[in-house]
Amino acid sequence: MRIFFTGGSGKAGQHVAAFLADQGHQVTNADLVPLGHPDVADLRVDLTDAGQTYSAMAGLARMSELDLDEQPTYDAVVHFAAVPRILLQPDATTYAVNVLSTYNVLEAATRLGIDKVVFASSETTYGVCFAQGERRPDYVPVDEVHPTVPEDAYAMSKVAGEATARGFQARTGADVYGLRINNVIEPHEYAEKFPAFLADPALRRRNFFAYIDTRDLGQIVQRCLEVDGLGYEVFNVAAADLSVAATTDELRADFYDGVELRREMAPDETFYSIDKARELLGYAPQHSWREAL
Ligand SMILES: NC(=O)c1ccc[n+]([C@@H]2O[C@H](COP(=O)([O-])OP(=O)(O)OC[C@H]3O[C@@H](n4cnc5c(N)ncnc54)[C@H](O)[C@@H]3O)[C@@H](O)[C@H]2O)c1
Repeated sequence: MRIFFTGGSGKAGQHVAAFLADQGHQVTNADLVPLGHPDVADLRVDLTDAGQTYSAMAGLARMSELDLDEQPTYDAVVHFAAVPRILLQPDATTYAVNVLSTYNVLEAATRLGIDKVVFASSETTYGVCFAQGERRPDYVPVDEVHPTVPEDAYAMSKVAGEATARGFQARTGADVYGLRINNVIEPHEYAEKFPAFLADPALRRRNFFAYIDTRDLGQIVQRCLEVDGLGYEVFNVAAADLSVAATTDELRADFYDGVELRREMAPDETFYSIDKARELLGYAPQHSWREAL
């Protein structure tokens, strides 16, 4: 597929864009800064500018495309570009950049007739991650029907992005899949970060004790590109296991006292339910910190 990938120079995007190129896709990275990967075409685009976004999505990405008889169009958009959390920029800027860029990407994809859009939402939509003080989920495992009523600007921008995506999908009937991605971990980060998580599980409370390996994030995006006909859906994205060595029973006793347990859970099973992605997308995460440590 010819894929318009936004935010491909970032922490998550660089792995996923390269993975998709490895799978044989033609990937264009639309970002403020280039990625510099030999198999990914870079376009510098400010996605908060509707004209730039539309022009980039309608245009050519590589010199070789000049040799085609007709100008190529994109088969799919994967939208990862964002300010990826609070505390990087002023809250109002985070909200404005994320909401406007997501609107522009979705409007351009809609007007250009691109019928597959995969976009990065976030675990933070459930309101636990960036709450002031301690906030617990309503129940565990947390699935996609759990309320999304966050208190912070970043997660609000992601909830607004989901609402916008849902609205455009209602207009077109296209396949628009949102990924409520958990904390992204690159393979080299296991050795750097996980010893502290194993020593003190409280460090992972705000992430439901979950995480996602960049390689499995690539897999789920590929599954989203392959599976057609779902319309608008959101999916939790996480590894199959916990990011700490404590068991689900131990963590529930220490952190989720009084929180409803909706179903039986395996001792090392993630509290961030990936059942829906397994069922509808055939997602099957392969990677765990347990291989690295
Ligand atoms: N990193 C995580 O743990 C995590 C967790 C959940 C969801 N997410 C989401 O996943 C996506 C990728 O996150 P990341 O960690 O790779 O973030 P990142 O900051 O490393 O990468 C984001 C990229 O978007 C680009 N960008 C920002 N504003 C832009 C604009 N106006 N126009 C064009 N490009 C712009 C940046 O240059 C950067 O390369 C984001 O949507 C983020 O909200 C990340």
